[in-house]
Amino acid sequence: MSERADRRGADWGAAPEPGGIFTKMKERDGAGRMAFVLDGEALSVECAPDRALTAILRETLERTATKLGCGIGRCGACTVLLDGAAVNACLLMAWQVEGRAVTTVEGLAADPGWAPLFDALAEANAFQCGYCAPGIALALAGLFAADPEAGEDAILRALEGHLCRCTGYASILAGALLARDRLRARA
Ligand code: FES
Ligand code: FES
Repeated sequence: MSERADRRGADWGAAPEPGGIFTKMKERDGAGRMAFVLDGEALSVECAPDRALTAILRETLERTATKLGCGIGRCGACTVLLDGAAVNACLLMAWQVEGRAVTTVEGLAADPGWAPLFDALAEANAFQCGYCAPGIALALAGLFAADPEAGEDAILRALEGHLCRCTGYASILAGALLARDRLRARA
């Protein structure tokens, strides 16, 4: 397992506890309602215990910019922010985000404060097909929110585990550095 996958694993949140939502769902024959905050909006959804967060986001809540690539935590296409930290949504069961805040790229794009990030990545021609773009944008947003001064090494570490099969990483890094500078200038 890569260092990135290990580090992300540490962000998954608490393991299920006896009597927690997972147990309650099972007691209710497989499904229950789960409440969480999605892109700033409190909501609850019907959720079976075996549904991944990617499935709930894409199929139930129509947040289809959250991509499903490898499904095993290797490509980063499914990245969302969980309480501000980048995680692989394909490796999370949906019930694990009960009571927590999830940000998708749709939510990020709706926030004008992050416009410099998207503009900089576009200006640097960071993406071609764009399949990796939502995950990379969210990883960078999580990084810059936590560390507005993040240097090249920190950016590269944040992008570990994000596979881009089109562009190559030089333009993605250039876009990230440009975004950092513009976000910092606006702060
Ligand atoms: S789809 Fe989640 S890491 Fe690839
Ligand atoms: S732009 Fe196509 S995978 Fe990154």
